[in-house]
Amino acid sequence: MKFATRLTLYYLVATLLSLALVGVAILKGIEYYGMATVEKQLIEQSDSATLYITQTLLLEKLGPVGLQEIAEQVANNLSAGKRQVRIYDRQLRMLTASVDGVKQEEITLGTPDVHNLAPTLQGNYAYRIRNNRAYFASPIELQGQVIGVLEFVYPLDFLNQVLTSARNIFYAGAVGFALLITLFSISIARKVVKPIQQLVEATNRFAGRDFTPICLERSDELGQLSRSFSDMGNQLQDYIQRQRQFVANVSHELRTPLTAIKGYSEYLIDEVKGQPDLAKAVDHLNNESSRLTRLVNELLLISRLDAGREDFLFERVNLSELVKETLDKLQSRAAKYTIYFEEKVEPDVTVSGDREKLLQGILNLLDNALKYSPPGGKVEVGVAADGSSAYFTVADRGRGIPPQDLNKVFERFYRAANAKAVGGTGLGLAITEEIITAHHGKIQLANRPDGGTKVTVTLPRR
Ligand SMILES: Nc1ncnc2c1ncn2[C@@H]1O[C@H](COP(=O)(O)OP(=O)(O)O)[C@@H](O)[C@H]1O
Ligand SMILES: [Mg+2]
Repeated sequence: MKFATRLTLYYLVATLLSLALVGVAILKGIEYYGMATVEKQLIEQSDSATLYITQTLLLEKLGPVGLQEIAEQVANNLSAGKRQVRIYDRQLRMLTASVDGVKQEEITLGTPDVHNLAPTLQGNYAYRIRNNRAYFASPIELQGQVIGVLEFVYPLDFLNQVLTSARNIFYAGAVGFALLITLFSISIARKVVKPIQQLVEATNRFAGRDFTPICLERSDELGQLSRSFSDMGNQLQDYIQRQRQFVANVSHELRTPLTAIKGYSEYLIDEVKGQPDLAKAVDHLNNESSRLTRLVNELLLISRLDAGREDFLFERVNLSELVKETLDKLQSRAAKYTIYFEEKVEPDVTVSGDREKLLQGILNLLDNALKYSPPGGKVEVGVAADGSSAYFTVADRGRGIPPQDLNKVFERFYRAANAKAVGGTGLGLAITEEIITAHHGKIQLANRPDGGTKVTVTLPRR
């Protein structure tokens, strides 16, 4: 998942959680406050109602038993709106029930709950909520004696309506708020991620040896990071530059003594003829100095290519002829490795290029094909062309290149793990790539499905 998406989701989850918490708290608060108000009112109302009943009893000079006589009338007087009034005697038998001033024979508001009423006989209130109704009972006392019970029944619809509308308002608000936060967090996430993306791009560029500095115009940590990055790039570039200069200097210094060694060793060959031991040593010396000379020449060439000091003499070059000539030159080496070149060369494919440099590139690639193929193998060498490009291909049936090394083998001195047993400097492909690039062409390496390596060089046609 992308970092920006993750950030947005985190914001959203945090928002929804806080909204849920706040919502539950508010709704519970409203409910609690509503219930408390209802209870308070019920206490006040029932206090004045029981007072009214006892005064009526006293006024009409009726004793405790008189409750039965006046029950219906007081119940009618006391009931109002949706409030139902029930009056019970001492044995908790219902004497009457009334709604909005009308006596109600049928008790539509639920059967009396004697169990709930019990505390009133001890002179207490009894309050409970059941099936969305509040039942509030209080004792009717006359001269310190409980003579009956008065019960109010309230439907709690209004409270539920308040809660439902509060909930709806809250839901609508929450959805709006969550949307707002999502939009907000998307824009924040974009802002946060953009500089990180720029840094990632710069890192990738650095990995590809492009050290163009990255500068984020910010004063925060990301700005600092971008500056450190650019510094690092500069240092790396500097380091590579110095390393290359060092290699160039050393190779240059080695050239003169090497020429001397080579010259003398060649001279010695004639001198030690007839002395087998010495001849062997001198031959070895001669071979090694040739090898070293080749290496130094390669190093010097790559240094000159780096510095742009190598001149390219562009002319019209017949690539087909050049490849055929090179193959002819390599015949004896191929025979030594018992390798057979299969030529698939279209005639007269021409390119614009430096003949000597192209020859060197072709030689490097064919040399690799020979070196990394098993004896008796076949190497297909092709030259072909289409509208705008010329193609030179070398396909061998050798050991191939481990996939993780495919890109690295173009780096100078890099040699794949499976090639270490074969002699080499790791400079051939680096030089060839430089040469091909100078010709505005490109070079690609691929492993063939049935084993071996295929190199394809593409050059602009002329
Ligand atoms: N045809 C090939 N088959 C297998 N591996 C190859 C082939 N060509 C190049 N390589 C790999 O690429 C590396 C670099 O090649 P190169 O630059 O020519 O250096 P060198 O041949 O001196 O080792 C080689 O060491 C080898 O690991
Ligand atoms: Mg090579």
